[in-house]
Amino acid sequence: MKIAYFSVIIGLAVHSALAVSTKQVKPRRTTSILINLPASSDNTISTASDVGLNLDDIQGDILIGMKKKKELFLFFSINDTATFKSKLASDIQPLVTTTNQLLAVDTQPTTALNIAFSRSGLTALNVTDDLGESLFNDGQFADAEALGDVKDNWAPGFAGTSVHGVILLASDTDDNVNDELSNVQNILGESITEIHRVSGAARPGDQEGHEHFGYMDGISQPAVEGFTSNVLPGQALIVAGEFILGASGDNTTRPDWAQGGSFLVFRQMQQKVPEFQKFVLDNALSVPGLTRDENADLFGARLFGRWKSGAPIDLAPLRDDPDLAADNTRNNNFTYDHPEIAGFDIATNQTNCPFSAHTRKTRPRADFGTEETARHIIRAGIPYGPEVTDAESASNTSSTDASLERGLAFVAYQSSISNGFHFVQQSWVNNANFFFGKAVPPGVDPIIGRVQDSAFDTARTVSGTNPLNTSETITLDTEFIINRGGEYFFSPPISALSGKLAA
Ligand SMILES: *[C@@H]1O[C@H](CO)[C@@H](O)[C@H](O)[C@H]1NC(C)=O
Ligand SMILES: *[C@@H]1O[C@H](CO)[C@@H](O)[C@H](O)[C@H]1NC(C)=O
Ligand SMILES: *[C@@H]1O[C@H](CO)[C@@H](O)[C@H](O)[C@H]1NC(C)=O
Ligand SMILES: *[C@@H]1O[C@H](CO)[C@@H](O)[C@H](O)[C@H]1NC(C)=O
Ligand SMILES: *[C@@H]1O[C@H](CO)[C@@H](O)[C@H](O)[C@H]1NC(C)=O
Ligand SMILES: *[C@@H]1O[C@H](CO)[C@@H](O)[C@H](O)[C@H]1NC(C)=O
Ligand SMILES: *[C@@H]1O[C@H](CO)[C@@H](O)[C@H](O)[C@H]1NC(C)=O
Repeated sequence: MKIAYFSVIIGLAVHSALAVSTKQVKPRRTTSILINLPASSDNTISTASDVGLNLDDIQGDILIGMKKKKELFLFFSINDTATFKSKLASDIQPLVTTTNQLLAVDTQPTTALNIAFSRSGLTALNVTDDLGESLFNDGQFADAEALGDVKDNWAPGFAGTSVHGVILLASDTDDNVNDELSNVQNILGESITEIHRVSGAARPGDQEGHEHFGYMDGISQPAVEGFTSNVLPGQALIVAGEFILGASGDNTTRPDWAQGGSFLVFRQMQQKVPEFQKFVLDNALSVPGLTRDENADLFGARLFGRWKSGAPIDLAPLRDDPDLAADNTRNNNFTYDHPEIAGFDIATNQTNCPFSAHTRKTRPRADFGTEETARHIIRAGIPYGPEVTDAESASNTSSTDASLERGLAFVAYQSSISNGFHFVQQSWVNNANFFFGKAVPPGVDPIIGRVQDSAFDTARTVSGTNPLNTSETITLDTEFIINRGGEYFFSPPISALSGKLAA
């Protein structure tokens, strides 16, 4: 105990000028808990104070985005409100990791902790203030059909409003995560009941940073005005208020205590990897000069909009380019338009990139002329579940053993779910006619698109995948992603954990 207090005092003396949080009592880190891939954008602070962002009060996961090595999501209900409130203020709040703490290796905790609450959770805490977001008020289960989800596929814990909150624990080893989990469970005791958990981990070896289908994830994160100092070519620069409540550009009225918070969308997205791999092989293109495997890779890349390496097909249309992929000044520097090509028409030309490609459906760039800036989200997800087993690979079939379920623990932050995640999923990804006014209707996003109702073709039609004839359509008769549900949460400013929410 004495040693711990001593290090706090030293920490204060050394770091007070940098306004680093003083709550850290654990040994300092020498290696980051975050993955730092050359392909990704690297957020660093510049003028956060100028735009009023309090990086000691904003939870660390929100602006830093993805890139964790291990992350556990513990979904709980509150069973004893009085005890929970008291422990939240006295013991949990000091463990919550700030944005500032995550920014430098030597201020990172051994295990980062963040916490967020659903509407039913706030209500359980007797907090009835309107945060100004109706989708949050109703919960994600009420939104399932609008998102195109099959409710029967939802994990039982998510089907309803019984999840009151989620605790996020992130570190570089499972042992660290489990130690902090025991600590939290000891603190909260019987005041909470675990409803569900998802255990995320970056994939092993050279697949670190890639999702389970094999594609590099997280390259195209928005830059945040007042936070990101090094805006990369092709990165969208977005007002902080689109992610942080009450920050510049957030025009919705919010309670004072909620300013500095953000809405966290969680989705457990199961990925059927052997089925996807078979589908890609079976639909290999026939572009002259490419081998069958290269033609299969090209087909997969045209579904995603990027090669597995992360190189965008708009810049590398026929072959992967690992150097381009690893260069974060070039791997996001494209718009789908090609003014350098005389006569290029963005409304008809899918030679480089299909209108339906996942990266294009979710961020249409120059399809809008000037990029749309109201729909951006910060993604902070991580893969979950083990690698594909030999037996699954040989049979082209995902095991039904629950312990072998794999996918993406999708996390997105925004100040409006209806303008952010929900809008992108419903009005872009699932909308076969989006982007509008193209020579051929694009079809749904082949990766995460869902048909919403019988008005759409239930078999999921996608066009533009064949560069030799972009009028051709293909039918996706296999579901590669099964949405297992999730919840809409509010990740409050840290001050609210001992303030409004504990009162
Ligand atoms: C805790 O709360 C959940 C959901 O509100 C409820 O299903 C469960 O029975 C409660 N458990 C206890 C031990 O009270
Ligand atoms: C809930 O909050 C209201 C004020 O917002 C207060 O009057 C009431 O006593 C609280 N109820 C409980 C159970 O704490
Ligand atoms: C918020 O208000 C500003 C200033 O009036 C305006 O420029 C901006 O477009 C508004 N943002 C949204 C999302 O409506
Ligand atoms: C980004 O793309 C533009 C337009 O093609 C080009 O002029 C610029 O040099 C590129 N930047 C980098 C760093 O490659
Ligand atoms: C379509 O774009 C490609 C390059 O992206 C170009 O080579 C081709 O000429 C364009 N087609 C037409 C009809 O303009
Ligand atoms: C798995 O799919 C591949 C590609 O279609 C095929 O060559 C192979 O025969 C399939 N294996 C089995 C066991 O069906
Ligand atoms: C391209 O595909 C469309 C739709 O399947 C078909 O009608 C057309 O004949 C094809 N064009 C060529 C040149 O094969």
